[in-house]
Amino acid sequence: MTDFKPTIIPTASEDFAATAADAIWDKISQIHSPLTALPTGSTPLDVYKHLLSAYGERKDVWGQVRYLSLDDYAGLEDDDERLFQNWLAREILDDSGITHRTTFNSNAADPAQETARMEQWIADNGPIDIVVLGLGTNGHIAFNEPGSSFESTTRIVPLSSETREANAAYWGGIDQVPTQAYTLGLKTLASAQHIFLLVSGAHKADILDKVLNGPITEDVPATVLRTVPNVTVIADKAALGLKP
Ligand code: GLP
Repeated sequence: MTDFKPTIIPTASEDFAATAADAIWDKISQIHSPLTALPTGSTPLDVYKHLLSAYGERKDVWGQVRYLSLDDYAGLEDDDERLFQNWLAREILDDSGITHRTTFNSNAADPAQETARMEQWIADNGPIDIVVLGLGTNGHIAFNEPGSSFESTTRIVPLSSETREANAAYWGGIDQVPTQAYTLGLKTLASAQHIFLLVSGAHKADILDKVLNGPITEDVPATVLRTVPNVTVIADKAALGLKP
């Protein structure tokens, strides 16, 4: 397996959001109707703020962006505030003016049919142009938990207790975090034309070191990103284990 080295853009922590936003904007504005998957989590929140403050006026560009769900909780009603598609609507989609949205139907009666629908939609409308990812502390990307096959496609997965704990803070306790989620698969993500992995904070330093320098293994799902070219890692110095 070729070990492609991702491009790494190190930043000071105070420059992280602007650096990531500028890099993402460069791609969004260069590609016609970019099919774009965006992450939730705390890492990208300031990135979205910067995208809006620096480029929010460019409705000509935003109006062409096609948003694609990266992952989402399963079993929730369409208007549930916990749905990632609604979270992202509040943080970036509504204010930027991205109206073309392809999302998981969280409450689908038949999850297998729902995942097949999504894969088919991507096959018909892809390739995915831009995927922006955060990094879970256990190495997950989207909701591909450790042990996920590098060949995995879109599917419904159980959430690990570590991931549910990490998500609990957003929704007022682990009881509020669904036990299952939809996610684009690792093969689906790796097929994207451009992939950004955003990582900030010293608490991500150990896992980021494994992702960049450890063995390429399904035990650390984000190492799939070393099997493809076109990956850019934007990380602050704390996450890279560097002195500030
Ligand atoms: C969540 C999401 C991921 C996200 C990751 C990291 O569980 N499913 O898409 O990237 O965890 O989140 P954070 O940025 O808050 O560390």
